[in-house]
This record gives sequence, structure tokens and C-alpha cells, in this order.
Amino acid sequence: MSSGVSSARKFVEGRVVGLRPWTADLFSIQVEAAVKPFRAGQFGRLALPHDGEMIARPYSFVNTPSERPLEFHFIVLRDGPLTQRLANLKPGDAIWIAPQASGLMTLADIPAADYLWLLSTVTAIGPFLSICKTDEPWQRFKKVVLVHAVRYTSELAYQDIIRAIAAVRGKQFVCVPFVSREDTDFAIRGRVPQAIEDGRLAAHAGVSLVAASSQVVICGNPEMVKDTRHVLEARGFKKNRCSDPGQITVEAYW
Ligand SMILES: Cc1cc2nc3c(=O)[nH]c(=O)nc-3n(C[C@H](O)[C@H](O)[C@H](O)COP(=O)(O)OP(=O)(O)OC[C@H]3O[C@@H](n4cnc5c(N)ncnc54)[C@H](O)[C@@H]3O)c2cc1C
Ligand SMILES: NC(=O)c1ccc[n+]([C@@H]2O[C@H](COP(=O)([O-])OP(=O)(O)OC[C@H]3O[C@@H](n4cnc5c(N)ncnc54)[C@H](OP(=O)(O)O)[C@@H]3O)[C@@H](O)[C@H]2O)c1
Repeated sequence: MSSGVSSARKFVEGRVVGLRPWTADLFSIQVEAAVKPFRAGQFGRLALPHDGEMIARPYSFVNTPSERPLEFHFIVLRDGPLTQRLANLKPGDAIWIAPQASGLMTLADIPAADYLWLLSTVTAIGPFLSICKTDEPWQRFKKVVLVHAVRYTSELAYQDIIRAIAAVRGKQFVCVPFVSREDTDFAIRGRVPQAIEDGRLAAHAGVSLVAASSQVVICGNPEMVKDTRHVLEARGFKKNRCSDPGQITVEAYW
């Protein structure tokens, strides 16, 4: 049995209440289901039955722990067993979810610092929006920099939520979009690690990215996570561990 296929007993049945398309391949799904309390930044496991088994995959909560419905942001992958099915669901359809959330990418495990940097590719903006919609980052950090790196402008989802956070948090919040395959008049064109090296990211954010004052959380494409981590390590950052606090926390999506 593959690690993504599990028995129905591990899941609770929920209901799809909405499906929001952002592009032909990029969606958000809203779900009503009885899950246990979780922390912003954590993920649940969504599941659908197929051939008498459940296909289950982790998805980060976009909603905060107090918001309902539950919301997940996903890309439909060609030949992706679960995402092909998720994109075809309709309001009222059944969907299953593991009641207990998981994940260590929460502010609970992130040490104190002046600046919190949240670096994401595409769908990994989700857990960072959940974190930014809670009060905790604003009570703990002088400034929060949210980076969203995508290939095309159309993949910059959730501009409504980003604008709402900016309206409430003012200068304490800065969002830096990266669009790598199109010219825009607002985003950095290129990749996050290069923009750290050449200073463009810090210049856009208006904050210097140095280990003494920063905590960096990196989420999404594993190659971006790895390359960004290497660039930061060369600048004196180190991985954050419970037993040995540092400045880098990561979650790779595949
Ligand atoms: C902790 C954790 C949290 C996650 N949260 C999310 C989330 O919030 N949103 C989300 O879309 N995915 C998320 N994922 C990935 C998700 O669990 C699935 O792997 C993905 O949706 C594809 O499922 P699938 O069954 O269609 O294809 P799979 O057979 O699972 O994946 C096929 C291949 O697609 C690639 N891939 C997987 N996920 C992505 C992705 N997000 N973007 C681009 N390529 C990908 C990989 O190369 C993978 O081997 C998360 C993964 C982990 C480990
Ligand atoms: N986006 C979609 O709607 C979609 C739909 C179906 C399938 N897929 C597939 O899913 C996979 C991932 O696609 P994705 O759209 O999520 O985009 P992605 O490849 O994760 O790219 C997102 C952003 O990360 C950048 N990036 C990629 N590798 C990096 C690295 N090593 N270091 C730093 N930045 C890096 C990309 O820059 P570059 O542009 O320079 O690579 C882009 O700006 C691909 O195989 C894609 O074909 C995507």
C-alpha cells in the first residue's frame, strides 16, 4: 500500500461548500468538517475514495484556527491522483479529512526576532495567510515580510486577503511578489535566492535580511526551499531546531 492510500477509518466525512478557480490549474476549496483544534501554519490530510481505498494528501489550512469553512489552496497536477479529483468536486459533495492536523511550521516553534520573513512558492502562500490573519505575528515581530513567488501574474492568488492584511497592519506588513516568467511593474522578476544574494529582496522589503534580527520560514517548491536555505546559510543563518535554535524553518511540499 502506498503512503498516500489509507483506510477510511482515519478520516471524518465533510462537505465541499465551495471551489474557487484562480487559473485553469489553480484552485481553492472550502470544506465544512469537524476537525480538532489546530495552529495557524499546520496542515490537514484531505482524502477521497478510489477503488475501495482512500487517496490522502497533506494540504495546509488557509483559514485561521477560528475561521470556518476550512480552506485549502491547490494546483491540479497532470496525472495527480488526488488533485485531478479535487478539482472536479462540487458544493455538496463529500470529502474526507483527518481530524487531527499536523506540522511544525507554526509560530510556536519560531524564536523571537525583529523581522519575520515568510517565503512561499505558489500554493504555499496558504499557511502564511493563515498565520498573518492571526494576531500573533503582529504582537511578536516589528515587521512581517510575505514573499509569494510564482511563474505568472495570474497565479498571485488571494490579493483580496493580502490587501485586507495590509489595510489593518499598515507599515508592519510588506508583501513582495515574485513573477519569474513575465515582466510586471510591481513584482521582482526572477527567483528568491538570487534576489537575496543581489539585495533586491531586502530593498523591496525595506528591511535588511540578516541573521541577528530575522526569522525566515520557507515553504513550497523543495528546490526553492533548498536553494534559499543554502543562500541564507552562506550569510550566517542556520536551521532552527528545538534543541538548537536558529533562524530558518522549512516545509517542502513535495
Ligand atoms: C506538509 C505538506 C503540505 C502540503 N500542502 C499543500 C497545499 O497546501 N497545497 C498544495 O497544492 N499542495 C500541498 N502539498 C502537496 C500535496 O500534498 C500533494 O502532493 C499535491 O496536491 C499533489 O497531489 P496528487 O495526488 O494530485 O499528486 P501526487 O502524486 O501527490 O504528486 C505528483 C507530483 O506533483 C508535484 N507536486 C506535488 N505538490 C505540488 C504542488 N503543490 N505544486 C506543484 N507541484 C507539486 C511533485 O513532483 C509530486 O511528486 C503539501 C505537501 C506536504 C508534504
Ligand atoms: N502552476 C500551475 O498552475 C501548474 C499546473 C500544473 C502543473 N504544474 C506543475 O507543478 C510543478 C511546479 O509548478 P509551480 O507552478 O508550482 O511552480 P514552481 O516550479 O514551483 O515555480 C514557482 C516559482 O518558484 C520558482 N522556482 C523554481 N525553482 C526554484 C529554485 N530552485 N529556486 C528558487 N526559485 C525557484 C519559479 O521560478 P522559475 O520560473 O524560474 O522556474 C517560480 O517563480 C511543475 O512541474 C509544473 O509543471 C503547475
